[in-house]
Amino acid sequence: MEIQNRPIGFFDSGVGGISVLKEAMKILPNESFIYYGDSKNAPYGTKTVDAVRQLSFQVSEFLIEKHIKALVVACNTATSAAIKDLRIKYRNIPVIGIEPALKPAVETNRVGKVLIMATPVTLEEKKFNNLLRRYKGMAEIVPLPCPGLAELIEAGILNGRELEDYLKEKLLPYVHIGISTIVLGCTHYPFIRDEIAKIAVDVPIIDGSMGTVKQLKRKLIMLNLLNKSGQKGSVEILNSLEDKRMIDLSHKLLSI
Ligand code: DGL
Repeated sequence: MEIQNRPIGFFDSGVGGISVLKEAMKILPNESFIYYGDSKNAPYGTKTVDAVRQLSFQVSEFLIEKHIKALVVACNTATSAAIKDLRIKYRNIPVIGIEPALKPAVETNRVGKVLIMATPVTLEEKKFNNLLRRYKGMAEIVPLPCPGLAELIEAGILNGRELEDYLKEKLLPYVHIGISTIVLGCTHYPFIRDEIAKIAVDVPIIDGSMGTVKQLKRKLIMLNLLNKSGQKGSVEILNSLEDKRMIDLSHKLLSI
């Protein structure tokens, strides 16, 4: 098969990366995608960095064997832990990661705190702290670790009392003192954007999926890897948890 016609591999610790895949399907309609959710090993965000790195390699290897032409790490946690090493190991293909979208948040220039909702691993890792250092002087940035939140979404909980209680406990203290913007630094969180907006009313909520997909497109163009067949691409969704519910949930999330 011509390299341009090969699929693009996406992975996440579970169903979260579907939020990135969705954007990719919009701006790259002729590309084919293989999405792998590692729900069997989710969450990644509360594991050790070494464990996340090892899982990231395991999943990437699985996708590489499917002859992908590019790899998208649609998980902030896996990007923090492994992107550098993945790029070294798979230097023959572009490897694109995702990170909390601090730049557009800071550039809104709104009054109040910039909250970065993400997993503990993402916020503790060097990659995020380098990013934080770059924007620290421009806004008051508050890292807000959200352990347990991706797990709710993995369980298909996208609204309701349990989720509302979780979000209120995290966000209300900041609602009272003023929030400038909220950055969704985990690919699971865009699926509960509306629930966050009910608590942090009129606050811009920003995620990094569009930036990641634009970077993917730029790389494909630069390396002459765009699919030029003119046909609509396909999507294959796989999950390490051999449970039909995860595939059903993935398709549901893809359609909302
Ligand atoms: N979706 C992952 C991310 O973007 C994290 C979820 C998890 O903890 O597994 O960071």
